[in-house]
Amino acid sequence: MKATVKAHTNIALIKYWGKRDEALFLPTNNSLSVTLDKFYTITTVEFLPALQADEFYFNGELAEEKELMKISAFLDRVRANAKKPMYACVKSQNHVPTAAGFASSASGYAALAAASAKAIGLQLTDRELSQLARQGSGSASRSIFGGYVEWEKGSNADGSDCYAQQILDKDAWDLRILSVEVTTKAKKVLSREGMKRTVQTSPFFAGWLEAVEQDLIAIKEAINERDFTKLGQVVEANALKMHATTLGANPPFMYWQSATVEVMQEVQALREKGVEAYFTIDAGPNVKIVCRPEEEQVIHESLETLPVVQQIHHCRIGPGITYL
Ligand code: DP6
Repeated sequence: MKATVKAHTNIALIKYWGKRDEALFLPTNNSLSVTLDKFYTITTVEFLPALQADEFYFNGELAEEKELMKISAFLDRVRANAKKPMYACVKSQNHVPTAAGFASSASGYAALAAASAKAIGLQLTDRELSQLARQGSGSASRSIFGGYVEWEKGSNADGSDCYAQQILDKDAWDLRILSVEVTTKAKKVLSREGMKRTVQTSPFFAGWLEAVEQDLIAIKEAINERDFTKLGQVVEANALKMHATTLGANPPFMYWQSATVEVMQEVQALREKGVEAYFTIDAGPNVKIVCRPEEEQVIHESLETLPVVQQIHHCRIGPGITYL
């Protein structure tokens, strides 16, 4: 009745931005990510008949009530699925620098889904685990798998055809991701709230949905052809389009800060000098840079000179979930 799982974070190259069903976490568009080797969550779940309620320890400390409630709501799905009304003790260790702007919810819910399913005795395929993890946080569906991963939006109302799957093994194409932490000022609009507001109010959202279809076709061609220039151009343009939708929302909002723009401009300046680097940005001010191994060092050296850059983390493409 006990299981421990390690799951890694991922970064979307084609963004998940918008839900067609909020309760089931069904997205409006397919997204595509790479799983990262550096940042992960390790979670142990133990179902115990003696417990009167769920318990949740995060990084060695008893978690706040609000966090416990989210975990309990997720475990309710697992219990219902297994038809075993038993409470659990959940212990989670996060090796994700939250300030780096990586969604720890992706690795967190991927690890929780796999550990809780195994601990309660459910035998789920990785595809089914991605559907379960999705219901904690959409991007978690992609963290079940390693390498290059696509999350299919599906069209069924019950989400039965909405799942993630690996499209290329991590060792098949060695790209590097630099996570550039910048100095921050503003409080962030959570991705969940941001995407909801955008879907409901932004006139640019329809344009996003149209464009993302083309971006997906182009990036899959780039991946098949191992065409880095093509991949980088699509990645950067897709992120810019996602962020453009937020400017049209009501009330409008923006994830970038001046430091974000400085890093974006430095990446563009590097390209003008012949160094191929491309950026992508999630629902926060930090910037992730996609590059080839041979250019990783020169990109690092150039970004280091910017006063707004606090830290640069180097990532490779990582594996899917592992049972410890
Ligand atoms: C901008 O997966 O955090 O990082 O499903 O509401 O939990 P919820 O959202 P979440 O959103 C991630 C949005 C993004 C793009 C992406 O990872 O694809």
